Amino acid sequence: MIKSQNRKFLLLPGDGVGPEVVRETKKILEWFNKNKSLDFKIEEELIGGASIDKNKIPITDEVFYKSLESEAVLVGACGGPKWDNLEFSKKPERALLKLRKELKLFANLRPAICFEQLVESSTLKPEIVTGLDIMIVRELTGGIYFGEPRGIEPIENNERKGINTHTYTTSEIQRIARTAFELAKKRNNKVTSCEKSNVMEAGVLWREEVQSIKDKEFKSVKLEHMLADNCAMQLLRNPKQFDVILADNLFGDMLSDEAAMLTGSLGLLPSASLGARDKNGKMRSLYEPCHGSAPDIAGKNIANPIATILSLSMAFRYSLDLEKEADQIDSAVQQVLNDGLRTKDIISKGTKEVSTSQMGDAIISKLK
Ligand code: IPM
Ligand code: MG
Repeated sequence: MIKSQNRKFLLLPGDGVGPEVVRETKKILEWFNKNKSLDFKIEEELIGGASIDKNKIPITDEVFYKSLESEAVLVGACGGPKWDNLEFSKKPERALLKLRKELKLFANLRPAICFEQLVESSTLKPEIVTGLDIMIVRELTGGIYFGEPRGIEPIENNERKGINTHTYTTSEIQRIARTAFELAKKRNNKVTSCEKSNVMEAGVLWREEVQSIKDKEFKSVKLEHMLADNCAMQLLRNPKQFDVILADNLFGDMLSDEAAMLTGSLGLLPSASLGARDKNGKMRSLYEPCHGSAPDIAGKNIANPIATILSLSMAFRYSLDLEKEADQIDSAVQQVLNDGLRTKDIISKGTKEVSTSQMGDAIISKLK
């Protein structure tokens, strides 16, 4: 095995349950350092509310540049009620948005897979979710999250007006469409592209550009267009009709939370945010669980670390060329679930409840 030559791995635990779930993931990374002759230089920095408390800003330049230099970045979560009243540009979430935007991480991959052992934890009937395997491809650096103008303005009659702008250009749509089609080719060869072309011009453009990429470059992939509200409904009615779902930033945000819950718990869903490949085939990337900071359960050692641990496995697979090690993590998670160990969010009859750290330890014990 070739040493990873001190590749830098940056951990940004952040807020809420972030530090707890990242702690377990770090243990796994350290295990690989020790037992697999990998040699990651693991660094840990503040982000989000934790950074605001110490530095008064959600991410310092120093941390931002560190993430530019790192081979992979793993974020826990950003935000919480403590910082809810801050002015918009100072909120914890801005750190995450800045990283996504400035690292140009336009493609967010959110796999929603229903593990056989957890069919019972889903709120949907077993026959609806058994075998579910969807990949949501969410555009991450455009749309209403970043469009200008934006803001809150005073207007006449003592009223105020809130403004956000939803924009997409041809190239922004084309590059994310390519990501979705490429992925579909390695899966079940079908893309469902979501927009609201019945009410939004940007939705009409989205539909046309996605179709034209398919016609020109991906003739063999099946493409279906679906209105985003219909997709939300279809996800509950018959989720197994989907293979790859392609959506813009906002619709992708919502549809991925919905898809996650089909699998039993938001605590299981990892994500990868990827940029374009450069001449040397390298790309920037950031990995994070989809669940957010979950302030209601933070600090209690009950959060599910699996989404973050699977995010590490995605980092191994997509950024670090450690396919075998990624398989090892995935299989360790499966084995622990087979043994009936469950954190609170996925507990069901006949299984054993474990804490966040016990779950982490159990997964490590299966790596050996
Ligand atoms: C997500 C989250 C973020 C988003 C928040 C924390 C800014 O909901 O990653 O899905 O809206 O993108
Ligand atoms: Mg979200």
